[in-house]
Amino acid sequence: MRIAFFSSKPYDEEYFETHNKAYGFEFVYFETALNPKTTHLTKGFDAICIFVNDVIDRNMMPHLSKNGILLITLRCAGFNNVDLEAAKANQISVARVPAYSPESIAEHTLALILTLNRKTHKAYNRVREGNFSLNKLMGFNLHGKQVGVIGTGKIGSTFCKVMTGLGCKIVAFDVNESQTLINQGIDYVSLNNLFETSDIISLHCPLTDKTKHIIDKDSLEVMKDGVMLINTSRGALINTQAAIHALMSKKIGYLGIDVYEQEEDLFFKDLSETVIEDEDILRLNSFPNVLITSHQAYFTKEAMEEITLTTLENIKAFEQRLPNPNSLS
Ligand code: NAI
Repeated sequence: MRIAFFSSKPYDEEYFETHNKAYGFEFVYFETALNPKTTHLTKGFDAICIFVNDVIDRNMMPHLSKNGILLITLRCAGFNNVDLEAAKANQISVARVPAYSPESIAEHTLALILTLNRKTHKAYNRVREGNFSLNKLMGFNLHGKQVGVIGTGKIGSTFCKVMTGLGCKIVAFDVNESQTLINQGIDYVSLNNLFETSDIISLHCPLTDKTKHIIDKDSLEVMKDGVMLINTSRGALINTQAAIHALMSKKIGYLGIDVYEQEEDLFFKDLSETVIEDEDILRLNSFPNVLITSHQAYFTKEAMEEITLTTLENIKAFEQRLPNPNSLS
């Protein structure tokens, strides 16, 4: 199989080249993202391997099919960036990596919470400059606080365990409630109740038509003043403009995001010598109580290993026509 690998980074190539020795597929690595302008690069390949910001919409699918693409294999769990119906209509199979170390994302979520709360990023810089003052570094105990978790699948349930360990009270909202979590003492409540009563709200549901802008002006309005809002799931779960307004009115006391609505043009790139034109990210970056990481929650050795091996297995299953539970179409 010849596979065109999009949005490739040095660490991707390193992991895939190492593990592909046991599989023998032919990978060609493209740094560019897959989009209408780069679709022509897929010509002559059997499959494409893509990541979170490679968007394949309805219009692109026939072009991929014409170029000979039979398989789209995603190096991620979320698949909101691929039009599955159009893939099916064009007889292109789609596979993903449904789970790769939910701990990596749950632990990064905790890192965002602790950094925002205890301001370790500021303390680090201060102390290195010889400033040992504690002014403005005061945090709050997580113990006893209520954490609202939206989406209690693999990542959300792992996060619930992490926060329970810190002595937090957890309330959750999910369209499918988990009996296991209920047995562990997690209370499922209505979305509105979660918004009204939580000190910290963390998003772990997928991006769908139903969850897009689940955090908007209305939901923000009912939240506690000074709420901490964390998103490590998908950017468009939060209406960015509404979040900016809520930061300005101090409704949001802390915002931690690993994903951003318009991240495609920014994240995973070194733009340090570039004039950034995205006004929203510049505005968000200007708040002292906002912490942004660029989609790195998944980025641990364990997760990279799992992503690589599962993707190689997905390609092998397709090539050998084996049943594959990771197939989406
Ligand atoms: P999962 O499929 O195990 O869990 C998702 C949960 O969300 C399910 O329990 C589902 O019932 C629930 N859900 C679906 N629609 C909902 C709605 N309307 N309201 C409330 N809950 C709803 O997925 P997993 O593995 O836990 O991943 C969750 C999300 O995390 C992914 O969709 C992806 O967007 C994001 N993610 C982010 C990463 C990062 O590096 N920042 C890495 C991996 C995943």
